[in-house]
Amino acid sequence: MTTDLSPIDRAKFVAAKRAALEVKSGMKVGLGTGSTAAWLVQCLGEMVRDKGLSIQGVPTSSRTAALAKNVGIEVISLDEAQTLDLTIDGADEFDAQMNLIKGGGGALLQEKIVATASERMIVIADAAKRVDTLGAFPLPIEVIPFGWQTTKALVEETLIGMDVLGRTTSLRMNGEAPFTTDEGNYILDLHLNRIGDGRQLSLVLNQIPGVVENGLFIDICDTVIVGHGDGRVLVTDQDKEGVEESRFDFVEKDNIFADMDG
Ligand code: A5P
Repeated sequence: MTTDLSPIDRAKFVAAKRAALEVKSGMKVGLGTGSTAAWLVQCLGEMVRDKGLSIQGVPTSSRTAALAKNVGIEVISLDEAQTLDLTIDGADEFDAQMNLIKGGGGALLQEKIVATASERMIVIADAAKRVDTLGAFPLPIEVIPFGWQTTKALVEETLIGMDVLGRTTSLRMNGEAPFTTDEGNYILDLHLNRIGDGRQLSLVLNQIPGVVENGLFIDICDTVIVGHGDGRVLVTDQDKEGVEESRFDFVEKDNIFADMDG
């Protein structure tokens, strides 16, 4: 129940709950991936079930697709939707310019395609995701399996000329085998510590043969909604001055927690 939630889960929940208020009937909505986005999908499912919300959702991963269907959201493909009104997703890091690192859950490729196809992208996060400079979180890049070691070597060579503090890379594993994305690709995590110029790094990485996409989201996010463990929510929007603050209470009827698996 709600009272058993950790402060971090409360923070994620209230951010998701505030973001769900931006979703209106008739919208085509990109549904992010990760633990914070999972709260959002639960909130939207509740609104569909109890409040007659009518939306079509485009999931950014097979995991999110399964969850969305499970909570009663109509799921369509991006090709069916073509363009989206809004995407709501989590992030691994965001900075003051609303540039992001994403892909900790391995879904960065679909997430970036879906967010870019959207009129507006909202990031939902707990306060720990806010950083002065991106890069403490390892930057994921999606690479095709063919020749991945060659791609990895090329990435490492390229990083020598970049404004970063660390240059080690690692293949993401799932037990004994490489982790594979929904597209059947691998993920390389780049341990950069500090990214001086995310825009340049993103462009350069995507020029390397074998790299499909990187987890830097530059100029894609419009709004950041930060939740706190005490129920406070802060909304920052690129187009609005200042920060909007609100508060959500935790009540027992918020029993959507009961069937969350993170
Ligand atoms: C999924 O690939 C990621 O981009 C997630 O959106 C990101 O890792 C945030 O996940 P959490 O909400 O679980 O922290």
